[in-house]
Amino acid sequence: MDILETGFVKGFIRMADDGWKLGWHERNGGNLTYRIKPEEVEEVRQFFDYGKPFQPIGTSVLGLAGEYFMVTGSGKYFRNVILDPADTTAIIEIDDKGENYRILWGLENGGRPTSELPSHLMNHEVKKRVTGGAHRVIYHCHATNLIALTFVLPLTAEAFTRELWEMATECPVVFPSGVGVVPWMVPGGRAIAVETSKLMEEYDAAIWAHHGLFCSGEDFDLTFGLAHTIEKSAEILVKVRSMQPHKLQTIQPDEFCALAKDFKVTLPEKFLYEKKN
Ligand code: 13P
Ligand code: ZN
Repeated sequence: MDILETGFVKGFIRMADDGWKLGWHERNGGNLTYRIKPEEVEEVRQFFDYGKPFQPIGTSVLGLAGEYFMVTGSGKYFRNVILDPADTTAIIEIDDKGENYRILWGLENGGRPTSELPSHLMNHEVKKRVTGGAHRVIYHCHATNLIALTFVLPLTAEAFTRELWEMATECPVVFPSGVGVVPWMVPGGRAIAVETSKLMEEYDAAIWAHHGLFCSGEDFDLTFGLAHTIEKSAEILVKVRSMQPHKLQTIQPDEFCALAKDFKVTLPEKFLYEKKN
């Protein structure tokens, strides 16, 4: 058997390639991590090399002690993931303190997991807890239109959620809890990881101002679909604003409520009635 024929590995590679094709991963932009299921770990254990040392994660994620992740490598290009997964991605194991990781497979020409590993793992830790283990994927992409909007919309969850909801009728159904917003911060460290993981208590998506998007989901389809829906909505908003500064008509609060009733989702009041900007 070939590790590249494993279901989760194929899903991981396909998602990375889909993001590249949509233009969200210039150069080494973006990163993807997947919390591997125990039965999937057993499928690929024969390929593991236990010879590499544990190294500090840079933060503490006790809730992920002993977990295994598939991750993209730091400085690796999403466009190359499909061509050479063993060079561009890795499978890592978290130690029993939740403070160190070691590479068991991949990054075969050297390198280390994504520089956003602290953000990914802190988000995974929160999402594992709040979803009872259901969420397994964290995805960071440099979605073009969404980044553009972080220069013209107030950097609040209220402004972004309401504007994105208004741009496509199914948006409130796809992300009923809304989207959080992190102000501009230095990427790659613990500070931005802490701020993002606080938002992940409430939201499945967090926007990094002037940088990109973080999404969490149960599987590759749901997580990619969430990012795709948010970015498409952002694209519509950019087009609308480019045509004229004010909307002539839009979806109204009572219409969102009717949608919520029929689609059986709960929409927080703060996104319906509060002034957004
Ligand atoms: P990495 O190449 O380290 O994953 O960084 C890319 C990125 O998008 C940082 O935010
Ligand atoms: Zn980034």
